[in-house]
Amino acid sequence: MADKLLEVKNVSKIFRIGGMLSRKKIVAVDNVSLSIDAGKPVILSIVGESGCGKSTLCKMILRLHDPDEGSITLLGHDYSDKKSYDPNQFKLDVLPIFQNPYETFSMRKTVDSYLYNTALRLGISKTKSEADKLIDETLHNVGMSLQVVKGKYMTQFSGGELQRISIARALITRPKLIIADEPVAAIDASMKMNIVNLFKDLKEQYQVSFIYITHDLSTAYYVSDYIATLYRGGLIEYGPAKELMDSPAHPYTELLMNAVPRVGDKWKDNMVMPDMEDKEYSITYCKFAPRCPYATDECRKSRPSMVDLGQERQVLCYHSLVQPQK
Ligand SMILES: Nc1ncnc2c1ncn2[C@@H]1O[C@H](COP(=O)(O)OP(=O)(O)OP(=O)(O)O)[C@@H](O)[C@H]1O
Ligand SMILES: [Mg+2]
Repeated sequence: MADKLLEVKNVSKIFRIGGMLSRKKIVAVDNVSLSIDAGKPVILSIVGESGCGKSTLCKMILRLHDPDEGSITLLGHDYSDKKSYDPNQFKLDVLPIFQNPYETFSMRKTVDSYLYNTALRLGISKTKSEADKLIDETLHNVGMSLQVVKGKYMTQFSGGELQRISIARALITRPKLIIADEPVAAIDASMKMNIVNLFKDLKEQYQVSFIYITHDLSTAYYVSDYIATLYRGGLIEYGPAKELMDSPAHPYTELLMNAVPRVGDKWKDNMVMPDMEDKEYSITYCKFAPRCPYATDECRKSRPSMVDLGQERQVLCYHSLVQPQK
């Protein structure tokens, strides 16, 4: 068996927008490498400001976009080798959960019909009564039940409840990886932690890994095993969540973490990042240098390479705030 569940290697995605005269190139994802081990499920959070490439990276992992460069493999199967991975199996193994649960379900169909459809159409349950049992069990695991859900339409549920049902739907296929892109952004503040905490329980119970994309660093702090920080399309820091958040190595992660509310703290409202400037995409030295308090001439001349800090930590910076450990 492959020792990596997911391996993203030097992956880039370039969008070209505008007409002939005003054509612009956007490097939405820039040479990103990261991986998730097989056999030990984890929650990997991807953090970074709006437009840094989080969703684009996830869409490539979900096979909704092809990378322009690099490779992605799941359990040793390379995405680019269409024959090596049965597309039907892929639909069972890697499941998305979207930001707005109201867009996941249609107004015209009962919510439970989606669950039956997944269970029966994908051949997970052979009969209706097998499906009843599986759906009820799965709904219980997200704090709902078939009795409560049956025959109802999406308008009869709160956003939090609907998101739980979409998580249950994803679990029915017994996936190996769930990709949740801002799953609580549209949910009531009081319910956010509740839903994200579910990921922690489900990770163990279903032995499923999560990629959790969020702007909300306070939730990432509590649930993640690992965190990856993206900046302008590039991975700039990676490591175990607690270590990375308590002592960030990259000045940009430090900036983000200084705005994380800890218990009893309030959000700082100066967290707003300046707008992304086009020229920042094309600079060939460190992309963070223009706003880095520690930048030196070296940072304005060439781009650093990823530095291995030991203890599963990596940083893309000439002036890491954490010293490498042997
Ligand atoms: N289909 C597309 N065509 C052109 N440009 C795109 C497309 N999708 C994304 N982009 C651009 O790529 C960059 C990265 O976008 P992406 O949606 O991945 O960011 P994000 O980190 O998910 O942002 P947010 O936090 O706002 O969801 C942005 O500049 C965006 O405008
Ligand atoms: Mg996004």
